[in-house]
Amino acid sequence: MSPANLQADPQANPRSMPPLQRVLASLRAYPGLALGALISSLLLTAAYAVTPQLFRWGIDQGIAQQNLRVIWQSAGAMLLAAVGRGLFNFGQSFWAEAASQGVAYDLRNRIFSKIQTLSFSYHDQAQTSQLLTRMTNDIEQIRSFLSTSLVQVISAVVTLVSIAVVLLLMNWRLALITLTVVPMAGWLLARFLQRNSAIFRRVQEELGNLNAVLQENLLGVRVVKAFVQEAHQTQRYAALNQELMQSNMQTIRAIRNTFPFIFLLSNLVTVVVVGYGGAAVIGGEFSVGELLAFNSYLLLILQPILLIGFAAPAIAQAAASAERLYEVIDATVEIRDRPGAVPFKACSGRITFENVSFRYPGATQEALKHISFETKPNELIAILGMTGSGKSTIVNLLPRFYDVTAGAVRIDGRDVRDFTLASLRSKIGIVFQETTLFLGSIQENIAYAKPNAKLEEVIQVAKTAQIHEFVISLPEGYATQVGEHGVGLSGGQKQRIAIARTLLTNASILILDDSTSAIDARTAVQIQDALDDLMRQKTCTSFVIAQRISTIKNADRILLIQQGQLVAQGTHQELMQSSPLYESILESQMKQPATAA
Ligand SMILES: Nc1ncnc2c1ncn2[C@@H]1O[C@H](COP(=O)(O)OP(=O)(O)O)[C@@H](O)[C@H]1O
Ligand SMILES: [Mg+2]
Repeated sequence: MSPANLQADPQANPRSMPPLQRVLASLRAYPGLALGALISSLLLTAAYAVTPQLFRWGIDQGIAQQNLRVIWQSAGAMLLAAVGRGLFNFGQSFWAEAASQGVAYDLRNRIFSKIQTLSFSYHDQAQTSQLLTRMTNDIEQIRSFLSTSLVQVISAVVTLVSIAVVLLLMNWRLALITLTVVPMAGWLLARFLQRNSAIFRRVQEELGNLNAVLQENLLGVRVVKAFVQEAHQTQRYAALNQELMQSNMQTIRAIRNTFPFIFLLSNLVTVVVVGYGGAAVIGGEFSVGELLAFNSYLLLILQPILLIGFAAPAIAQAAASAERLYEVIDATVEIRDRPGAVPFKACSGRITFENVSFRYPGATQEALKHISFETKPNELIAILGMTGSGKSTIVNLLPRFYDVTAGAVRIDGRDVRDFTLASLRSKIGIVFQETTLFLGSIQENIAYAKPNAKLEEVIQVAKTAQIHEFVISLPEGYATQVGEHGVGLSGGQKQRIAIARTLLTNASILILDDSTSAIDARTAVQIQDALDDLMRQKTCTSFVIAQRISTIKNADRILLIQQGQLVAQGTHQELMQSSPLYESILESQMKQPATAA
């Protein structure tokens, strides 16, 4: 990207900001709430600061002068200040909470939609548990920073400064002596944080480790049981849990070792106030009321230091969380529409691979090497090859799940990178090797890409995918819930639902990636027979990837792939005669049905 481009990019500015500053900038979306919280917090500080003055007034002008009216008035004003404190406290926490919820809501939506646009290559490398942590834990850290720590720090700073000023105005000599408690307490606290920040960080890390083990075991509970690893896993969890508890105890000990000293400091100051201040009162330069007010201020001034101290680790954590979050938000989307991309409308069926090579990001070897072929309209193309030979990689280049490293993939002569992604992908139906069903009914799962499809349409594609009989045998038929808590389906049943789902989309290019691998050979042949005609009629070109030759015998052309290279192509008959590799695969599979049956 050129510098000029960078400036034109509206995202370029926030990207260069420190993460926490970006979080603060996101408050701009909620100006009313943020301002409400800020004003409430200032008023709250004022209500706190005015109380000792009312106290002083009541003592000096009321009690000392034996003036009952002033006593009542000061008591009334103190009551008002107390009510004000309650109201402003409510306003501050309510508005800060509301603004923080708004920012968290925006962040969640932004990350979610970002994750939807990120390319396959990003998801290949990202850890699902990491992304989950960012969506939940990191957003919560930021939210609590906005709703709690930020407010605490702002009001602490305002309180500290305003009270210091009031004290200096009341009696600057006494103020200078007593205010030494502020840097001393600050120093104790800073030392505490510095010494113990490693422990705080360790607690967070150990919590993460504990959750990782938990997640791994929940996801892999079947494997754990199959390998009889329950006792070992329980031990592993218990050990980590023990570590976490010990670290937690360490933090508690550290707190116990520091805070009594801070409180002792504040009590020592009281000695100074009573001693020095008492002498001043006797000397007539200070009234009793002023002395009492002075002392109350000193109690108020220690609170903000403690608040800042407690908020500091939370702020550091929020900064780390924000950095991780913006990493996802800022991740480059490698595969996106080119400027001037055109929608993909109709296809006549000529798909060209032009000297295509492809290397996965980070891989040392090329997964595809110089693949060239061209399809004719309405052809049914089969791709055959051993596991890892590159079959899936070939078809993944068509909907641009990845972009070629060299060469070009064309549809009707036009490079696939010239089409808009959405139009291209909506015209290409793909059934993946590994099927994913979503939480919902079987009908909803089949109609995933066409939610308003009628039940008749759903039944029709289910029949083609040979799953209809099974579905109606279930007590609730098409309304049966699948997914985490739904009925258990076999791998083959899931594959057939996935095939039906793709058939419903009326895609003009259809790709079945090994999608009958978990289905028995006979049903697979039945599905393929039912699909063959449909695919030839309804699509401009179709690809079927298969391991079993029996399911692709009728294909118009078979591409034989070996170690990323196209080694032979032709019909079943042609390949039997021309390709020794095809012949040997066929031979090895001819023996299988006997053992399978
Ligand atoms: N997401 C990926 N990242 C890195 N390498 C990959 C990825 N997917 C596949 N590969 C590698 O590319 C090669 C071809 O894989 P693939 O196309 O899935 O083979 P097939 O579908 O024929 O079994 C293999 O060596 C595999 O290890
Ligand atoms: Mg594959």
